[in-house]
Amino acid sequence: MYTQTVLVSFLAAIAEARFGQEQGNGAIAAIGALSDLGSSGQAATLSGGSIQFLLAAANPCGKLTQADQIVAELGTSDRAIAAARGLVAAEQNFNPFVVSIPSICSDPTLPTTAALRGVVPLIDPAVGGEATENTNSNTSIATPFTADGLSVAQVMVAQGFSNFTAVAVDGTKAAAVASGASAVASVPSSASVAASSAIVCGATTLATVTRAATSAASVATASVIASSASSSSSSTAAVGAGAITNAVTGNFAGFQASTIAGLDFGTCTPTMKFEAGLNGRKATESTFQAIDPVVNKGQQEALNPAIITNRIHDQLTNVCGANQAAKDAAAAAQTQIVALGTRDSTTADAWNTALGFTGTNTNPDNAPQTGLVGHT
Ligand SMILES: *[C@@H]1O[C@H](CO)[C@@H](O)[C@H](O)[C@H]1NC(C)=O
Ligand SMILES: *[C@@H]1O[C@H](CO)[C@@H](O)[C@H](O)[C@H]1NC(C)=O
Repeated sequence: MYTQTVLVSFLAAIAEARFGQEQGNGAIAAIGALSDLGSSGQAATLSGGSIQFLLAAANPCGKLTQADQIVAELGTSDRAIAAARGLVAAEQNFNPFVVSIPSICSDPTLPTTAALRGVVPLIDPAVGGEATENTNSNTSIATPFTADGLSVAQVMVAQGFSNFTAVAVDGTKAAAVASGASAVASVPSSASVAASSAIVCGATTLATVTRAATSAASVATASVIASSASSSSSSTAAVGAGAITNAVTGNFAGFQASTIAGLDFGTCTPTMKFEAGLNGRKATESTFQAIDPVVNKGQQEALNPAIITNRIHDQLTNVCGANQAAKDAAAAAQTQIVALGTRDSTTADAWNTALGFTGTNTNPDNAPQTGLVGHT
């Protein structure tokens, strides 16, 4: 249970940071306050487990299933229903760097609990048309809208708000559509479809799997790995500085210097990760991304490692203040990655090793390990 406790506190910290000024925290707290219902600790676990569904990378159908779970475990008292409705109505974060409208669940079967149907969520006040939706949401908590056979997305459209991207349980995105039966037929002109190049990077997958760093022994690298004892780098940042846990940019353990003598990456750690589920992708779809938030900021994760290695190389000059030897090493490693032609965790390992970061955890966000083979 230690793992779970740590996980819950960790997620609570994320939610506090991102939702401190919003109502997301209220919904989470309301669930946790039902400690007299269910068995001991059940409400706290449900509360902690609900946070992930309000983060940017979560599938919007997730919180509906979680709301059903709350009722299943804590019962159908008015208080339990109110708390579960609060989760359905809670605003889900989204990454404003890349998308400007929220994602809403398009599955007409969710939530399955009758008392939770017809409740619609609050949305970011910055989104066009928000006044209608936020008023509707407030109303629906007390008096849910008619929702027979309709998804939350369809209920929202029926009530006058369609400025969102509809997302299915499997992650498929579509424009907001009014009626379920003829889903392909009528797309309101006001509907928006988010570009497939959605969010920079999400790192919110709940999984306790940790992976030992893959051996880089089989990876041919021309680079000479200097003794790891040579930590007398002239880098300008302190080891461990800038550690961050962020729902958008991911987990970063803090600054690390290269173990290769002479390579000074300035204020950045130029390592690369390979993870499933980034940016709301499927749990079976893995992509590459830089690990350091200063390096990955504004860059969308990519199936092609060359896009990310190129980005990292650019950042060495643009924001990191790296020395010429470090830039040259990155350029050589870029060539090496292209020559390898692989798209999996060994590709990220090869890059990290070539720059003096052997053994870097290429799954710092603990994404599920089902998608280790990259998409092409
Ligand atoms: C949807 O919201 C975005 C972001 O605020 C805005 O730019 C856009 O005009 C809105 N679209 C409609 C149809 O209201
Ligand atoms: C939400 O509804 C309540 C009554 O149910 C009302 O007092 C409150 O002002 C409403 N808030 C918003 C933001 O509309």
